[in-house]
Amino acid sequence: MSALLSGNAWVNPFLGALESAQVALGSAAHALGMAGDSHGQPAWPWTKRLAVEVLLIDAGVARQLALALAATSGALLLAIAGLFWRRLRIALLAAAVLAAWFAPWPDTSLWLADAVPTSFQTTSFSVEAVARGAARYARDCAACHGDTGRGDGPRAATLVRWPPTIVGPLLGHRLDGELFWRVQHGMHARDGTQSMPGFKARLTDADAWAILDYLKVLAAGGGVQDGDGWPVPVALPALDVRCGDAPAEPLARWRAGQRVRAVAIDSRAPPLEDPRWQTLLLFRDGALPSPHETARWAANGYASCVAVSPGAWNVFAGIAGVSTQRFAGSQLIADRDGWLRAEAKPGDPAWADATLLCAAGGGRAEGVDRSRTDPLTSLLLRIDAQPVRYVKGGYVH
Ligand code: HEC
Repeated sequence: MSALLSGNAWVNPFLGALESAQVALGSAAHALGMAGDSHGQPAWPWTKRLAVEVLLIDAGVARQLALALAATSGALLLAIAGLFWRRLRIALLAAAVLAAWFAPWPDTSLWLADAVPTSFQTTSFSVEAVARGAARYARDCAACHGDTGRGDGPRAATLVRWPPTIVGPLLGHRLDGELFWRVQHGMHARDGTQSMPGFKARLTDADAWAILDYLKVLAAGGGVQDGDGWPVPVALPALDVRCGDAPAEPLARWRAGQRVRAVAIDSRAPPLEDPRWQTLLLFRDGALPSPHETARWAANGYASCVAVSPGAWNVFAGIAGVSTQRFAGSQLIADRDGWLRAEAKPGDPAWADATLLCAAGGGRAEGVDRSRTDPLTSLLLRIDAQPVRYVKGGYVH
């Protein structure tokens, strides 16, 4: 057993299994009526949850927990065997008691964290929500958190505690549902004084989720501006796509597991279709081509699928970290799992100067090896070879 546990390769599958067991337990409790709803979604019924964020970085605690679980399950098996195996009953039950007694459970403060009813709730990330969240953020949050989310709003200096910067790993260290709870119910310092007000009375649940979606865009764009890449992976936002003169459909259905290349254009000259990806054309609101026009592009082999959700241009510009005026000509690539991975600046159709903004598992900015003959193909191969394994608040998403 200890030889098996000496490397760290087992940690990820072990934590994955714990996560699934925990989620299954929560769903079972909800199905059995032990937990009601909170903020419109199933509530987490307990005040504690596994502190996967601690177990992920402290393999020692994870190992001890694994041994304790193994010992306890062993005890359970011995006890069951003892019930059926009359001749060895005494010995088996004694062994079961010993195994349960000596199970090396680590201190609970090391592997349990405080939970709230919304801990495991999330929402989908959409263009519509980000656009709405931006307006609500400006109204309710920017005074303290600052227009760019760096915690430098005009009221920041007057507070008991300085607001943290959103432009960095913070959002990745928290569970969405716990951020949501803090926004709606406020935060308190250790001595009980309120450090951030709650917004339950001012914001609907949908608005609070929308602001959290907008914070992801602020964090991504700010990271690019600082030259650090995206601090946490960013998914393609949900939006509606219209191809040629066909009816619009949700991006997820249109994408169907393919890579996506999003191109911001302000002319009527779309790029040619390319079998390596699906091309998503972004236009400014009010400048969308007509279905008749895109049908003609399709007939001539040009890209003809347009993001028709209002605000798509602004949301993608925000993610890319450029102003909406300077966004024309930019391109972004999303991998087959729907994670945005790389960006090319205007005037770089060959992707020679492309930047991998989301290296697998974290946002480390890296230039692409230019010695290869086709920079774009080598970029795509690299992205495929390193899929994003997103760990948020310790939990794999
Ligand atoms: C009155 C000033 C103020 C306003 C208004 C405000 N915040 Fe905060 N916010 C703070 C302070 C101060 C903290 C740090 C609190 C702490 O760590 O105890 C904070 C912390 C946060 C955090 C980090 C939570 C964490 O887990 O560490 C998030 C996210 C956040 N605020 C979002 C928002 C959003 C969204 C709004 C608007 C709906 C908002 N805040 C409005 C002052 C404010």
